[in-house]
Amino acid sequence: MSAEKILVTGGCGFIGSCFVRTLHERFPDVEIVNLDVLTYAGNPENLEEIANSPRYRWVRGDVRQAESVDPLMAGADWVVHFAAESHVDRSTSERAGAFVDTNVYGTFTLLDSMRRLAPGARYLQIGTDEVYGDIPAPQLPDEEAMLSPSSPYSASKAGADHLALSFARTHDLDVMVSRCTNNYGPYQYPEKLIPLFITNALDSLPLPLYDGGGQIRDWLRVEDHCEALLLLLERGTRGEIYNVGANQAPERTNLEMTEMILAATGASPSLVEHRHGLRPGHDQRYAVSTEKIRRLGWSPRAEIERGVEETVRWYAEHRDWWEKIKSGAYREFYEAHYGRPASGA
Ligand code: NAD
Ligand code: TYD
Repeated sequence: MSAEKILVTGGCGFIGSCFVRTLHERFPDVEIVNLDVLTYAGNPENLEEIANSPRYRWVRGDVRQAESVDPLMAGADWVVHFAAESHVDRSTSERAGAFVDTNVYGTFTLLDSMRRLAPGARYLQIGTDEVYGDIPAPQLPDEEAMLSPSSPYSASKAGADHLALSFARTHDLDVMVSRCTNNYGPYQYPEKLIPLFITNALDSLPLPLYDGGGQIRDWLRVEDHCEALLLLLERGTRGEIYNVGANQAPERTNLEMTEMILAATGASPSLVEHRHGLRPGHDQRYAVSTEKIRRLGWSPRAEIERGVEETVRWYAEHRDWWEKIKSGAYREFYEAHYGRPASGA
């Protein structure tokens, strides 16, 4: 461990908060600064357990604004960039501009601040496997594969990856890019498939399964993702890209994941509601080769059935956390997108 100060962006979101908790637990001598503006997806409650720690500080600010970023950058040894607009369904509407703005311009602002104020820092760009686009089975793209993003979300993330790598070459910065598959686990905003279906199943509400449910995602537990990121910061090679994923075998369709959730919640299969047309450009399959990061010594620990059962238990035990979201900020999007109320209330 060679860092004394770590700047994390988007630490009040799903994966960022897991990463901050992991850092806090693992590195007792490190100062953690979390820059998060709190969009609808940011929630300081995700980090309530360390909110009063003298080693942790949350600064409410926007990664797109140098005035917010610069004061936090000086002295940073590691910069880990999670902050993003992250939901594909929001990027297929008139909200797409926010994705370009935050994911591309926000990444530029952070890199440019690092170039000026912490050129010796190590930077990790948190990317997604969705930049490779729709992958026919049984292909597993490696890090050299062509990028072919399908949605404005994944296109904006591809732009961010390119910017990060351009700063490595042009300004000789220590930059790496990780590209992870779909995550699941505690504190995930209930707009994504797994927490949406778990919370709807717990409330006996319909589970809106898109386009027949035959699509494949390579689900990885968020804790396993965070372990991979720590390993990269400690042992990754500058200028390199690393795919991260579970390589589920067999691969699971959305319908199979839904059945797993129904079994774990005890909800009725009749809740499944087939929906079409809600995900224009819907990618059939995401998958990646993870040989490169496995050669560094990482492999996922969680097994999918158990992981889903534990995740269901967490949501069942943390109703307060998600009920506030579903009856609050999420309600408007849900009603507009799915055409029905977001909660039984
Ligand atoms: P999330 O939507 O849960 O959280 C995003 C966080 O970023 C929120 O706390 C939000 O307030 C903050 N944020 C947004 N705009 C900001 C801005 N302008 N300035 C400062 N903070 C801002 O996202 P997540 O699911 O935790 O994803 C985190 C990162 O990981 C993203 O970059 C995403 O593209 C990437 N990723 C996610 C997945 C997944 O399955 N969720 C998989 C691979 C990669
Ligand atoms: P999602 O969790 O939004 O992640 P991503 O689009 O980034 O992979 O969606 C995962 C899969 O689940 C995707 O194939 C779309 C599907 N899906 C549904 O069937 N119903 C839903 O309500 C949502 C949100 C997603």
